[in-house]
Amino acid sequence: MEFGVWTKGLATLSVDCLVLGVFEDGELSGEARSVDSACGGRLKKLLERGDFAGRPGDTLLVSELPGLSATHVLLTGLGSKKHFQRKAWRRACQAALAAIARTRIPSCAIALDRPETKQLDDYYLGRQVAELTGGALYRINDLKTGKKPAAAALRKVLAGPVRKASAAQQGLTHGAAVAAAQVIQKDLANLPPNVCTPIFLAEQARALAKRYASLKVKVLDEPALRREKMGCLLAVAQGSAQPPRFLVLEYQGGKKSEAPVVLVGKGVTFDSGGISLKDPPGMDEMKFDMSGAAAVIASLTLAAQLRLGINVVGLVAAVENMPDGRAVKPGDIATSAAGLTVEILNTDAEGRLILCDALHYARRFRPAAVVDIATLTGACVVALGHHHAGVMGNDEKLVQELLSAGVRADDRCWQLPLTEEYAESLKSNFADFANVGGRDGGAITAAAFLAKFTQGLKWAHLDVAGIAYQSGAQKGSTGRPTPLLADFLIQRASH
Ligand code: BES
Ligand code: MN
Ligand code: ZN
Repeated sequence: MEFGVWTKGLATLSVDCLVLGVFEDGELSGEARSVDSACGGRLKKLLERGDFAGRPGDTLLVSELPGLSATHVLLTGLGSKKHFQRKAWRRACQAALAAIARTRIPSCAIALDRPETKQLDDYYLGRQVAELTGGALYRINDLKTGKKPAAAALRKVLAGPVRKASAAQQGLTHGAAVAAAQVIQKDLANLPPNVCTPIFLAEQARALAKRYASLKVKVLDEPALRREKMGCLLAVAQGSAQPPRFLVLEYQGGKKSEAPVVLVGKGVTFDSGGISLKDPPGMDEMKFDMSGAAAVIASLTLAAQLRLGINVVGLVAAVENMPDGRAVKPGDIATSAAGLTVEILNTDAEGRLILCDALHYARRFRPAAVVDIATLTGACVVALGHHHAGVMGNDEKLVQELLSAGVRADDRCWQLPLTEEYAESLKSNFADFANVGGRDGGAITAAAFLAKFTQGLKWAHLDVAGIAYQSGAQKGSTGRPTPLLADFLIQRASH
């Protein structure tokens, strides 16, 4: 894929397709007007006939207009002019790229009017164009045996109009890396759980690291995990025929002495619930329970790809959660790597059990910040739905950093209140605490559990259960929150 910017002369630009915006009242956007005069007012005529209403998401492909070098013009709806903001721009751009991906058009120029710079500057224009292109071209790595539909023909996308070409160009470079990272995350998460096992995740991380000299991977197997005394992680894994793996990915882009950012991913390759077995409907979706792990692996490749000037460590706790004669039972007490004992009242609250040992492992890196990413609770989905991830932590500055990274990246999260009261429900008569605290406030009590293991660390937790994958017709991984994590790392690297 080739990305670039166009600067002037849309009519004579040598691309196959110009992407132009139309407002809802049938008004051509500024960029479209210049093209319209070059082709003798044909676009205006088309709109006057009422053939295109300019609604967000609508597109119309027009071919062979006179006076243009491009063979095609793709009109895309910008919605109401009065309410034209970043969101509408993004929607229009996304719809246009999706439409182009269904054609044999090999190159295009995005020439949509832009919302105010405050909302979308040159850098983010480039970022968005490249990320949306990646999204439009993504095809699920399915295991269908029929003839694969031909891949889209799109090879070249020019972004614009730009004020500062260098900033837009950097945005395109970063956006392309984010898109590539999202492909890694999506491919891993979309694979069936009989393929994507803990061992498979370890192999994939190893294979990715081979591409970058700056990226190292260490894999801990079961005996190593026993030596690390990861009793909670091992308790989850013990019911599965698939042995667990713990991955340590290290990217060194800063000085060796510099404290790293540690990203910790929940890698439950299948979550049946264990002995606290889940209901059958939708259980297949629990193959996405390793989305946090996939986002961590993806983010480390992104750091390496962009040669970010920081150190990043990725920790992935990969297990399968299954019921079995040897499986952990409600009432069992496990000892975590931190030495604290946990009464496992519900074996379906397994994410926090593997994360508590992973978070403890993070301490040895003396991290500047620790962020865990986990499809941790259904309660978070109930609280926030599918638009925002949940974010909580023990360091307000870090939480704010993630909130604003999410806004910039269009991959948002929302803070839930992690105050001490929530920890009270984790009391146990038999161990230091229980792994569940009842139904109410479930996203927060899960975080309160993790907080017990992150004292003294600057830590934040992203609950991505509602945003990492979609159900329904578009079933599959969304590739979130990789854009957010990318922004977080890029921002840290620029200081
Ligand atoms: N992986 C699930 C959380 C989840 C639910 C992710 C729905 C995506 C969609 C997690 O391991 C889990 O089962 N959590 C339990 C916790 C409960 C037992 C306290 C839940 O949310 O029901
Ligand atoms: Mn579970
Ligand atoms: Zn789970």
